[in-house]
Amino acid sequence: MDKKSDLKAEMDFMDLLRKPSKLFGYSYIYFIVILGGLGYLYVDNLTVIGKNSVSPVVLKDSSAYLQDIALQSPRNLPPVDVMIVSVSTPELMKKGKELFKANCSSCHGDNGEGSGSASVTLNPKPRNFHSLQGWTNGSKISQIYKTLQEGITKNGMASFSYLPPADRFALIHFVRSFTTGHPVDTPQDLQGLETAYQLSKGSNSPGQVPIQIAEKNIVAESSPDVTWITGLAGSIVSGSGNSGEELFVRLTRDKRKALTALVQGGTSTTVGQFIKIVSADPVQIGFRAEVAQLSPAQWTALFQYVNGLRARKG
Ligand code: HEC
Repeated sequence: MDKKSDLKAEMDFMDLLRKPSKLFGYSYIYFIVILGGLGYLYVDNLTVIGKNSVSPVVLKDSSAYLQDIALQSPRNLPPVDVMIVSVSTPELMKKGKELFKANCSSCHGDNGEGSGSASVTLNPKPRNFHSLQGWTNGSKISQIYKTLQEGITKNGMASFSYLPPADRFALIHFVRSFTTGHPVDTPQDLQGLETAYQLSKGSNSPGQVPIQIAEKNIVAESSPDVTWITGLAGSIVSGSGNSGEELFVRLTRDKRKALTALVQGGTSTTVGQFIKIVSADPVQIGFRAEVAQLSPAQWTALFQYVNGLRARKG
């Protein structure tokens, strides 16, 4: 082997391509080990990498936080003169403060900053009454009146239309007292209030039942027993010729009550027990007091009739 062919053998790149290990020698083993190590680290930490390290902000539907409406009997609301109640007085302010505490603080906070206990999850936040900026309807008396009348339900502000107009004006003055510089109503604005809501005519406010109670009533009234009793009571009329039935019709003030006590309760098994139960407090269970004057034969007829009804129930 001469020197020339020696050099040629060393510079033979094709040979390098054929056997790449000649280029790196055995150093490729290091690369494989390092790559393997990185791969292992990656796989080992997949759960951590896969987790979103920023927890998502949960936006709540604030409409769910509206309180149920108050139980209220129907009433006539006295008329108010807009021009008079739109002027703040110490009495209105005092009244407004009390009403605010009772109806608004839970969301708007005692100090009107919009940070009441129920506000935490509300989006948007309840209005901060210390700021003049960003009001949805506006902070004129007429605009706040509209807010209280209609609510801004899409944003979680309830309607307080069940409050008497005079109370709403008290609230408005109190709400506006948290800061100064509110826009002032023009006489036209106030006249507009009068036109829109006919405040000088007074208003009739219908009775209202909180939804929770209404739901319970509906369920109670439609329970199978109550439906059955109501149907039965309706079907019992005089004129059938059955002496027991005639007595029942004549001697009950409230058939449903009597049936509920006697048929549904299902207690008395003898005439004696029956007489005892009914005459203990007849009026309380829907009978007339005269029931106490029945003859033994009449008691028996009544007892048998009621027992028959109970059997119908099965
Ligand atoms: C259930 C929570 C809640 C209660 C209770 C509540 N508010 Fe609000 N209120 C809000 C929210 C939320 C906003 C914000 C609405 C918006 O930005 O449009 C708001 C906004 C307002 C505004 C500003 C409206 C505007 O134009 O931006 C007024 C005025 C107001 N409330 C008055 C009251 C008064 C007075 C009461 C009590 C009688 C009351 N609120 C009770 C949640 C509430």
